[in-house]
Amino acid sequence: MTESITITDNRSGESVEIPISGGAVDGAQWRELLGPVWFRDPALGNTAATDSAITELDGEAGILRYRGYPIEQLAEKSTYLEVAYLLINGELPTQDQYDTWVHEITHHTYIHESFRSGIFDAFHYDAHPMGMLISTVAGLSTFYPEAKEIDDPEVRHEQVVRLIAKLPTLAAAAFRHSQGLPFVFPDNDLDYSTNFLSMMFKMAEDDYATDPALQRALDILFILHADHEQNCSTTTARIVGSSHADPYSTVAAACAGLYGPRHGGANEAVLKMLADIGSYDQVDAFIDSVKTGDGRLMGFGHRVYKNHDPRATIIKAAAHDVFEVTGQNPLLDIALKLEEAALADSYFIDRKLYPNVDFYSGLIYQSMGFPTEVFTVLFAIARTSGWLAHWSEMLEQNSRIARPRQVYTGPEARDYATIDTR
Ligand code: CMC
Repeated sequence: MTESITITDNRSGESVEIPISGGAVDGAQWRELLGPVWFRDPALGNTAATDSAITELDGEAGILRYRGYPIEQLAEKSTYLEVAYLLINGELPTQDQYDTWVHEITHHTYIHESFRSGIFDAFHYDAHPMGMLISTVAGLSTFYPEAKEIDDPEVRHEQVVRLIAKLPTLAAAAFRHSQGLPFVFPDNDLDYSTNFLSMMFKMAEDDYATDPALQRALDILFILHADHEQNCSTTTARIVGSSHADPYSTVAAACAGLYGPRHGGANEAVLKMLADIGSYDQVDAFIDSVKTGDGRLMGFGHRVYKNHDPRATIIKAAAHDVFEVTGQNPLLDIALKLEEAALADSYFIDRKLYPNVDFYSGLIYQSMGFPTEVFTVLFAIARTSGWLAHWSEMLEQNSRIARPRQVYTGPEARDYATIDTR
């Protein structure tokens, strides 16, 4: 059977046969025949904007793989920094490569003192940490002007290291500022996740220590959030990066894409929703209100997963390990009842709405002591490696600047009328 599609332009009777390659057809060939007739595809739900070798996602089968490795194996056996290396370089590191990578990341965690004091102090005491993170990531570009040399692989590598290393430092600084707490300097003797926890929560103790189960849970959450192919924030990174903006501006734009409640802000929204529901016996009424169009069940549904989100399954298991250390989160009962009620309800079944990665992650974060305003920041730390992997891939593909078309629906040409005649 020929793997191709033939389209006919009924205006001219002309046809074109376009091969199907890798599950896609080449838009440029359609254009040859159709001229200025564009595909109306708002939200790009039917458009493969790129070829990519980073993350494979099969939403029907509930499969997620980074560079071919199943997410379940990475969550069980790997570390976040190893996964970051894999995403960016395409292969798991050897021991020597891993040691060098960890050393590099560990030794780029500091931010310039004037940046820390000058910029963070300018924010209001109750500034949202994501707003501070977006601004300060963009601000880093002013400290590393050489980052504009995006064609130089060594310069690119250095910025990748800096961004992965400094994101937790900026995130923790934003949190400490919002709490009126003094900044905690990075501790190069700690692993990536523990160092972040130390910068967040260390008080007067000499050496920060955390329960290994909590450190591991955070590392797993970082692994699960590290990449998810062409989602909103990653697409933002690719689009902004396609203009050849520096990587700090690119990652800041991606952070902004992540901030919204439909994307990375959903974990914060889930906790607010659970708190608003308030008690177990209000769950049914809440489900009814969602079905009548009064808001959404946050943490449910996904553009691509129409069966189950494999990350949600792993997170649910990790939640139990965390609760063994921290005690059960009082909102867990509401979440479990909500999940059970939604999964049995035809509204959610018919629309293929299942718990996504954010349904349980917020409960874990809250039990570990993170305030809700920091949840999206945690997502941003993890996703930075994914954004940078896509940014590097896009540059290596020599991609053109992103520039979609539109279908103009405004007024026809008309003459300007002076204000006294309107
Ligand atoms: N609660 C209630 N109804 C929903 C929900 C929900 N969470 N999600 C989708 N629907 C309904 C929607 O109203 C629509 O119904 P109808 O056909 O009657 O109009 C139908 O399901 C299809 O929805 P859609 O808006 O076309 O779906 P989408 O693919 O555009 O949206 C989504 C995907 C994730 C934005 C959406 O499911 C949603 O808003 N979920 C809640 C927010 C959330 O949890 N986001 C985190 C996503 S996973 C983490 C990440 O990658 O950022």
